[in-house]
Amino acid sequence: MVGIGVAALCMVTPTVQAQVKLNANNIDEVIGEMTLEEKVHMVIGCGMSMGDGAKFPGTAGRTYDIPRLGIPSVYLADGPHRLAMSVKRDFDSRFYYATEFPSGTTVAATFDPNAAYQVGAALGEEVKDYGMDVLLAPGANLMRNALCGRNHEYYSEDPVVTGKMAAGYIKGVQSQGVGTCLKHFAVNNQETNRNNNDSRVAQRPLRELYLKGFEIAVKESQPWSIMTSYNKVNGKYTCEDIDLTENILRDEWGFKGVVMSDWNAGTDAVTSMKAGNDMLQPGQERQYKAILEAVQNGTLDEAILNRNVKRILELVVKCHTFENYKYANETDLKAHAIIDRTIGAEGIVLLDNRSALPLTANVKTIALYGTTSYDMVPAGMGFGSTGVGYYCVSLVEGMRNAGYTVDADLIKKYKKHLFDEQKRLYPNGKPPFSLTPLKRAEEFVPTSDELSAQVKNNDVAIITLGRTSGEASDRRVEEFYLKENESALIKQVAEAYRAAGKKVIVILNICSPVETASWKNMVDAVICAFQPGQEVGNCVADVLTGKVNPSGHLPMTFAIKYGDAPSDSNFPYDYEFKMPSFAMGSGMNFESQEKEEKPKEAVRNVDFTDYEEGIYVGYRYFETFDKEVSYPFGHGLSYTTFSFEIVSSDINGDNCEMKVAVKNTGNCAGKESVQVYVKAPAGGLEKPAKELKAFAKTKLLQPGESEVVTLSWKLMDMASLNEKSSSWELPKGTYQWMVGASSADVRCTVTQKVSKAQKVKVHNAMIPPYKIAQHDMVKR
Ligand code: BGC
Repeated sequence: MVGIGVAALCMVTPTVQAQVKLNANNIDEVIGEMTLEEKVHMVIGCGMSMGDGAKFPGTAGRTYDIPRLGIPSVYLADGPHRLAMSVKRDFDSRFYYATEFPSGTTVAATFDPNAAYQVGAALGEEVKDYGMDVLLAPGANLMRNALCGRNHEYYSEDPVVTGKMAAGYIKGVQSQGVGTCLKHFAVNNQETNRNNNDSRVAQRPLRELYLKGFEIAVKESQPWSIMTSYNKVNGKYTCEDIDLTENILRDEWGFKGVVMSDWNAGTDAVTSMKAGNDMLQPGQERQYKAILEAVQNGTLDEAILNRNVKRILELVVKCHTFENYKYANETDLKAHAIIDRTIGAEGIVLLDNRSALPLTANVKTIALYGTTSYDMVPAGMGFGSTGVGYYCVSLVEGMRNAGYTVDADLIKKYKKHLFDEQKRLYPNGKPPFSLTPLKRAEEFVPTSDELSAQVKNNDVAIITLGRTSGEASDRRVEEFYLKENESALIKQVAEAYRAAGKKVIVILNICSPVETASWKNMVDAVICAFQPGQEVGNCVADVLTGKVNPSGHLPMTFAIKYGDAPSDSNFPYDYEFKMPSFAMGSGMNFESQEKEEKPKEAVRNVDFTDYEEGIYVGYRYFETFDKEVSYPFGHGLSYTTFSFEIVSSDINGDNCEMKVAVKNTGNCAGKESVQVYVKAPAGGLEKPAKELKAFAKTKLLQPGESEVVTLSWKLMDMASLNEKSSSWELPKGTYQWMVGASSADVRCTVTQKVSKAQKVKVHNAMIPPYKIAQHDMVKR
């Protein structure tokens, strides 16, 4: 360790070559050779690599390099659904394309962590092939509210689905020898005022819901790094909270990697260092000065700086760049497109089907309605989507590839309409890159003469509705509901086609739930495709035609109306978004921005958000309080049917295990996911009616074929956090283990006795400095 006095003498970076060069076994020695300034540089980034002068233009950043000590920069680029970098570079004729994979939500809808692994492995290969080292992904925040702008990057309203999917993805990416950065740690559930919002949450929901997904991912997959979030939790910025990053993350969960801040998060660099937030990205001059001064004046122990530098160097030596890996600078786009098409289709959820799907052999010509059929939404917006996409398959293309004729007159009409709408919405042309969602064309409804001709000329009608969202802003409540002309389109098309005995199918190409209850019975089938990536049109066509039998399940509840979920009243659903609440980009004047932005008095749901619903998020609320929903969590139909039978169930020491036989009882091959929910005995803490503890997916089962799937979880996964004793408590008694096809569709149940209560003490961490009101759920 270099003492403070010694460090003060080393103010100037030595020009002489050091004898020692970094390797995996001499990190302490290398730190001993570093000047104080070099150490401070090491814990902050080198700015964003957006410009063309950068080694990898359009990427998020890099770590500091010290060539004299053999320390290279390692390169960080955004995910989660695409390796984000500039596709075009100055004085370079090539296109640096990366694959647009399915969104996090779409991957979660597969209910198959192996699907997440495959997407991760392909993404990891692209990161490696293009010479970068760490993918800033996956996102593992809980879907607390249907309107969060970044829901598409996240997995689920349930922490087990979130954690298992994130772990699959992380293992996949890291199988390629590149790193991940699990984000945004933690409780970053809204984008409105994301740099300053305080998430006020009690310790129990914090542990059981908001941290649980991260905990599972960290323990199961050891990400190389983790990114703290922009927001505060219980009054402290997450990057400045030692409880979060040291006491919980490292001490309790055993995390071994680097903690880095989100880009320009937090305000106090020195507190971040002390909290074990090892690296501040993308790095600011004022952070550099603050850390340097703090060590010099003794308010920051240099040992802490050394510890943080050590963790960063431990990451550096694992990276391809450190090994001087000769990357190809191109990747297997063809193979990855196949992965996107396969997983994208697996994540599609069949919500309703009244004998409309798969399309029957007599369907030959198709009428495509809705601007989204022609302008599909492969993915959401944000830094994960920087620049030009590779390509996006429209539904016209997808259906044609599948051998159908698409109504040419409608194609002509929509082409003109989209062109006119683009001119109206963007008189000066579309921006090349946008964090917030691009404006989408309004729908139009054909006249009744046009409609009757279309009904005559086509065998089936397909209507696609689209929604997108992005970083730094949330969706408004209006975007949950259908617009007037969207509802009119569904109603009129449905009436016209159904009167002629023809089927009508609605495709939802959406980031997050929309209202479905008012119109779903007007049509014959509803499919939720979420955002399956660049192959979107082919993915949807594969499901419509039956080439792929749908096996996706909803990773969140579709409520009947906005206001039904208890978090709805504590969310900025009607907030008029102002861009400057978002601080980003090097060269920005943060000081003046902060002054402008300081609110006179704290605004509810903007400056702070009270998590009054406690543990009742998503199905935990709807199931416990018998509240009707449009589509429940875990719901998803198939073109075949399945039966479930519990073969065995057992508690053996710390392990719970269930074997379930799934049989394909229908007429075509298909896959099914098995969901195990647990109901705890009365007597302990108040509990939701049921909680998902495990899930698994079968292989493709032929008609009549069965498979026994094994589902396992730990005994203490059924425990709850008692805030009074700061311990996980598992009451003794009889537990119900329920096998379901959704949270609302339990097929068989078995009981298991826990004969001895268990207790595991944890840190009394992240205590809210205020009392958080509790909703009266019964009255809702
Ligand atoms: C986002 C992160 C991202 C970072 C770097 C931030 O705005 O919140 O998810 O990794 O930018 O691009």
